[in-house]
Amino acid sequence: MNERTQVTDATPVKALPDAQTVTEVQHYSDRLFRFRVTRPKSLRFRSGEFVMIGLLKDDGRPLLRAYSIASPAWDDELEFYSIKVQDGPLTSRLQHLKVGDQIILRPKPVGTLVHDALVPGKRLWFFSTGTGIAPFASLIREPQTYEDYDQIILTHTCRDVAELTYGRELVDSLKTDELMQELLGDAINKLVYYPTTTREQSPKMGRITTLLDDGTLFRELGIDGMSAETDRAMVCGSMGLNTDLKRILEGFGLREGANSDPAEYVVEKAFVG
Ligand code: A2P
Repeated sequence: MNERTQVTDATPVKALPDAQTVTEVQHYSDRLFRFRVTRPKSLRFRSGEFVMIGLLKDDGRPLLRAYSIASPAWDDELEFYSIKVQDGPLTSRLQHLKVGDQIILRPKPVGTLVHDALVPGKRLWFFSTGTGIAPFASLIREPQTYEDYDQIILTHTCRDVAELTYGRELVDSLKTDELMQELLGDAINKLVYYPTTTREQSPKMGRITTLLDDGTLFRELGIDGMSAETDRAMVCGSMGLNTDLKRILEGFGLREGANSDPAEYVVEKAFVG
């Protein structure tokens, strides 16, 4: 680690009004990690939204990127799930965060992966790849998700099994965590988790787009398909995934929604780099 890129209490971030303190860091692989920071008392957001976070550059100016808040709106802290890109301007430094370090957080949450951007339905699909699971990590901990839908299906596609760890541990924890049990109770059984890998052998292999196109996903879940009457979807991943899924969802008659004009599905690009 390079001393100059390490964020410590000595960095001027502390002087900024938007500084927040890191409370927890967990590394999953050399490509992925999660961290939690203090939450500004005044920050209100809707589960699924993103904020700008970052660090100060050597010239003293902030380097900020959009990050989905992975924690639910009711949580006392904020959680983020991030990729590590060795030559990425921000994540090459962010990956060295330690408890007690500070980051900049602009408290202006925005985003379309929110319940308000969808019209009422019966089944909600969360389609994600890589770190695109972050907004859904928030939404699967949000009681409204379970109040509004009969079934919630979270699909997560990664290159290898290790990259599924964050999502798998989170889904498992919903069933054992006391607070989550108190909040969700038996409603947690509405959640179906469907992880797949594309480059390493695992029980379910393949891009989710392929599994949708060839019907495997529906067959395995015992579902007839999607319809604009019953199904709602949120998509978060690479540009390629988002484009391909838009085509598939529109093929089922779903229309893209927005905060100002709710419809049957919404899309957001996952932060990469
Ligand atoms: P693949 O291994 O076939 O490229 P990344 O780590 O590059 O962000 O990718 C995360 C996952 O998203 C990988 O499993 C990758 O599959 C998958 N993926 C990439 N592009 C698409 C796409 N257009 N449609 C569906 N899945 C995709």
